Amino acid sequence: MEFTQRVLNAYAQIDDRRLRAIVAGLIKHLLAYVNEIRPTDQEFEFAWDYMGRMAAKTGPERNEFLLLADVLGVSQLVESLNHDEPGTPVGFALVGPFLRANAPFRGRGAADMSDDTPGARVRITGKVYDFHTKAPIEGAILDTWQAASNGLYENQDENQPDYNLRGRYKSDRDGTFDLVALMPTAYPVPTDGPVGELLRAAKRPPNRPAHIHFIVAAPGYETLVTQVFVKGDKDIEADVVFTGDEKMLGDFKRDGDRFSLIYDFPLRRGVSTMPKAPIPA
Ligand code: BEZ
Ligand code: FE
Repeated sequence: MEFTQRVLNAYAQIDDRRLRAIVAGLIKHLLAYVNEIRPTDQEFEFAWDYMGRMAAKTGPERNEFLLLADVLGVSQLVESLNHDEPGTPVGFALVGPFLRANAPFRGRGAADMSDDTPGARVRITGKVYDFHTKAPIEGAILDTWQAASNGLYENQDENQPDYNLRGRYKSDRDGTFDLVALMPTAYPVPTDGPVGELLRAAKRPPNRPAHIHFIVAAPGYETLVTQVFVKGDKDIEADVVFTGDEKMLGDFKRDGDRFSLIYDFPLRRGVSTMPKAPIPA
């Protein structure tokens, strides 16, 4: 019997249909890949050692496997396959490794950061609405997170207060929300682990273009996981995790010593879910 078929047969008794298909697909493509690449013994040793080093970098505050999926385009492809629909004005984006559970609820108009956080402010206002009926959605939760202007999320930086630049806001009866965030700046993904090694080998700059993350959720609606980038930013094309696109551009306007942005979030009817937060509370 052909070798691949022998391996497939060994996993044919998995009861759950979906799991059986997932494992069979993995075996088929993995063995086809090995047949194509024909790794040497030393290359195979490098591969399992690389995975061991990824595991060593992984813990409650960091997941090197998720970061690898991000820089290889896997995470954004999964997001697109599950959620992209032609015609919707706002795109879906990967969650990334920096979503933290239980961000504090902040009041209408409040800032997501401490007063002494360096950098320009942006007031973001807009509306959460039903994409099909255009009706406003009251009580939607907007969970937002962003990096500081030193390029670090609060969990990476002992000089930032707990949950700095993170917050949950609620839409009002007319679907509107109002919050103050930091004008986003570009930052590099962590490169001190095996993923950094890969990026250097590929001569890929590790940068994420300036963005703010949003998860917008309401009962009876498909949860929108997205990011807002800065319209006109030349670095969006080179996003190290292949996320930035024309359906996620915010028209940030200068407004005295700060900025303002009007940005609406359309939701489609569906099942309300919450992504697993890579960083615990
Ligand atoms: C982020 O935007 O937070 C992010 C996404 C993917 C990899 C690293 C960081
Ligand atoms: Fe980010």
